[in-house]
Amino acid sequence: MPASSPIVAPSILAADFARLAEEARAVEQVADWLHVDVMDNHFVPNLTIGLPVVQSLLAATSLPFDVHLMIENPRRWAPAYADAGAYNVTFHAEACDDPVALAKDLRAAGAKAGLAIDRDTPIEPYLELLPNFDTLLIMTIKAGFGGQRFIPELLDKVRTARRHVDAGHLELRIEVDGGISPDTIEQAAAAGADAFVAGTAVYSAADPAEAVRQLRRLAERAIGQA
Ligand code: DX5
Ligand code: ZN
Repeated sequence: MPASSPIVAPSILAADFARLAEEARAVEQVADWLHVDVMDNHFVPNLTIGLPVVQSLLAATSLPFDVHLMIENPRRWAPAYADAGAYNVTFHAEACDDPVALAKDLRAAGAKAGLAIDRDTPIEPYLELLPNFDTLLIMTIKAGFGGQRFIPELLDKVRTARRHVDAGHLELRIEVDGGISPDTIEQAAAAGADAFVAGTAVYSAADPAEAVRQLRRLAERAIGQA
């Protein structure tokens, strides 16, 4: 059972990109992290923002940045996001042949290090690497686009990771990303997640801050019952 209170991280992928600073500030008082999806049109077909935009956005809000790199060759690019001041930098296991070395580089640059596991990637080969990481991001969709339907079967990976983390007394957040909403967050929390990314559920709501509060209430309740 996760010991920590839940982290709620709105994803700006679902925000208005012409008003990113305002959209970030709309959740500043209620969110724990701001989830920033960097996509390179190679690792995933989609293309979003890169380092210059992230740097500007960092200056515009006090929220800690949870940078989710969906890019090829993260060893080349990821440390710059740590240098820029991101709180946590997550890269994909599928894109990196030496995840532990990159985790060390990120930590040396002053950031938390995150490992992301995409829809079709098993978790087992990566469990032994987890002591080198601060966050484990388990995709609950196929990485690449917001607004997709949550895949409940992928929570088996969350359960496996939770057992491993608890048995090893690891200090690691288990984060879920994709289709997290008031309809799905409780099952993700009950499976062992303790960090929740939500794009559409926050930024398509009439009141994004209230949407964050509601997600937190639901996650807290489900964690309390797990
Ligand atoms: C998709 C991104 C997600 C995305 C989630 O690859 O990693 O962070 O913003 O969006 P929703 O919450 O709409 O599924
Ligand atoms: Zn993401």
